[in-house]
Amino acid sequence: MSKIFFKQFLNDKKMVGSIVPSSKFLCAKMLNNIPLKSAKLIIELGPGTGCFTKKIIEKMGSNTQLIVVELNSDFHQHLKDKIIHSNVHIKQDSANNIGILTKQLGFEKADIIISSLPLANFPPELRNSILKTVSENLTDNGSFVQFQYSLNAYKNLKEIFHSVKLQFTALNFPPAFVYTCKKS
Ligand SMILES: C[S@@+](CC[C@H](N)C(=O)[O-])C[C@H]1O[C@@H](n2cnc3c(N)ncnc32)[C@H](O)[C@@H]1O
Repeated sequence: MSKIFFKQFLNDKKMVGSIVPSSKFLCAKMLNNIPLKSAKLIIELGPGTGCFTKKIIEKMGSNTQLIVVELNSDFHQHLKDKIIHSNVHIKQDSANNIGILTKQLGFEKADIIISSLPLANFPPELRNSILKTVSENLTDNGSFVQFQYSLNAYKNLKEIFHSVKLQFTALNFPPAFVYTCKKS
């Protein structure tokens, strides 16, 4: 059990969205079908304690830049203490601000956006504005990967992305659906 994760869950259940970090099985489903090696810019939203971040860094190319965006100050500090890598930029910010963070690093758009945000817990306006921002900041051939504990997000994602592919894993607490979305 990750103590920091459980503590942050108790502090803000809706924002953290889960009692424990995601499993290695969910991580594999999130990362296996996207071209992490060739991406110029990857953005991760809602890294928590960094269970996906660690694997993204292992799999990304030597020239890939990674922006990690976490709203929670304790998770942000935990990641800053744990990850020291010249291509990894750990920001305490909201997912809504990825446009600014992308431009600050000298990029127009990201090739891949990987999200653990608990969209189902967000008010519809926030959910829609984050998804719109994600789409606007993704290259035309880019991929957006998001997990959720239900199928509720499917309709929302289909309204914004041309293609939405679904995967499922029972080997996570709770079992999870992985949505891989493309603009074209
Ligand atoms: C379900 S946890 C996922 C953590 C980790 N990626 C995992 O899979 O175990 C969701 C994370 O999203 C973060 N979060 C919630 N709202 C956010 C926002 N608007 N912008 C950035 N991060 C946010 C929470 O603080 C939390 O770390």
